[in-house]
Amino acid sequence: GKGDPQIAAICAIHAASNGPLLPILHDVQGHFGYVSDEAIQQIADELNLSRADVFGVVTFYHDFHRKAQASHTLKVCRAEACQAVGGREVWSAATTASQRSEDVDLEAVYCLGNCACAPSVQLDGRTIGRMSPERVAGLFSAGGH
Ligand code: FES
Repeated sequence: GKGDPQIAAICAIHAASNGPLLPILHDVQGHFGYVSDEAIQQIADELNLSRADVFGVVTFYHDFHRKAQASHTLKVCRAEACQAVGGREVWSAATTASQRSEDVDLEAVYCLGNCACAPSVQLDGRTIGRMSPERVAGLFSAGGH
């Protein structure tokens, strides 16, 4: 058949079981990290279900992801001490960069306890001070693979 051979194989493994849909979805997410639109369509075809049936199950259970999850988290401080010394520009550069990157989740936070070295950000739990718009944009490409 058409479609991804991994998904076809996963469907084949579970095809004979009672209620194969959930185990198939778990395996697909385990393999790819998420359940894509294409996967939903292919699983529906393999199981003779409608796309809407499979979609409904994927969206009902919160442990299924519909997109690849970002592997990095960047927190940008938007509290006063940071905003006063260029944090606004850092935030705006970060939001621009985040639109081009699916690998980094951008979050606003209010004080990282690093006001002395403002503006501050935190990448995957590591606090970095004296941030600039250029450096923060660089964190997005450095964070990717
Ligand atoms: Fe930004 Fe405290 S205000 S670290």
